[in-house]
Amino acid sequence: MPEELFALAPAKVNLTLEVGAARADGYHELASVLQTLALADEVTLRPASTPSMQVAGPFAAGTPEDAGNLAWRAVDALASVLGREPQPFHIRIVKHIPAAGGLGGGASDAATVLRLLARRWPDAGEEALATAAAAVGSDEPFLLAGGTALVEGRGERVTPLRDLPEHGVVLFIPPDTLPNKTATLFAALDRDGQVDEPAVSRSLAGRLPVRVTGADLYNSFERVAFDCFPGLAELWERLEARTGEAVRLAGAGPTLFWIGPAESVDAVVGAAEGVGCTVIPTATAGSLWRR
Ligand code: C5P
Repeated sequence: MPEELFALAPAKVNLTLEVGAARADGYHELASVLQTLALADEVTLRPASTPSMQVAGPFAAGTPEDAGNLAWRAVDALASVLGREPQPFHIRIVKHIPAAGGLGGGASDAATVLRLLARRWPDAGEEALATAAAAVGSDEPFLLAGGTALVEGRGERVTPLRDLPEHGVVLFIPPDTLPNKTATLFAALDRDGQVDEPAVSRSLAGRLPVRVTGADLYNSFERVAFDCFPGLAELWERLEARTGEAVRLAGAGPTLFWIGPAESVDAVVGAAEGVGCTVIPTATAGSLWRR
């Protein structure tokens, strides 16, 4: 058995994200068509004498290197589901996915740690992985396999879909995010009061594989993101004016993204030059794990 295990942890975008009613447990009913991207963190796991973690790479700044990191918590979550003694590992993550932007980077690192642990722990079947993933966070169950999927419930009901054909994607990362961002954005939606039905997500899920543009997508958080993230409305307007294309919010934001034909990526990146945010060209990508 190899001492060191390695895998990529892809970013995601929500092609649709419809937030329904708040539940008694504080979570919200969701319907979302999620899609993994080629942009990915690198995750390495090796047995160690005490738990430890190292984060490097272009977007390492501000990422916790302790139990504050979801990837660290994933080890204990799976050990607990399997009734195993927690086992110490060294986790190394090279961050290529900007943190706290709505791209699922931290959740994907955690889901990838679960996949790597399953290679060492033969009792870690799909059900145990799904239970541990849901215990760590709401995006983790989808990110266990990635690809294209319809996600419902709090995030734990994942229905794999036919792959979206490959699309180009350009990510626009504003300089600032918010503390406790996801909970803050859900609370803003509660104040807004509108409850979305899962119509757009189910319709897209039923039509795949199809080509999409930003105009086909939907995200409930777009109703409140302008008010929550200072400067986001202006950035959004500038991007749409310069590119002449629809730009959408990634998850709970504040990352914005364009999606369309791969041949148009260079033109979109060129049009966004000097707009005042980090611009990352990438593409949609199928599951690294689905068999
Ligand atoms: O589950 P996770 O830790 O990813 O969620 C972060 C926060 O987002 C939760 O504490 C909750 O406030 C909110 N959330 C929600 N409904 C969901 C998923 C997340 O209200 N379906």
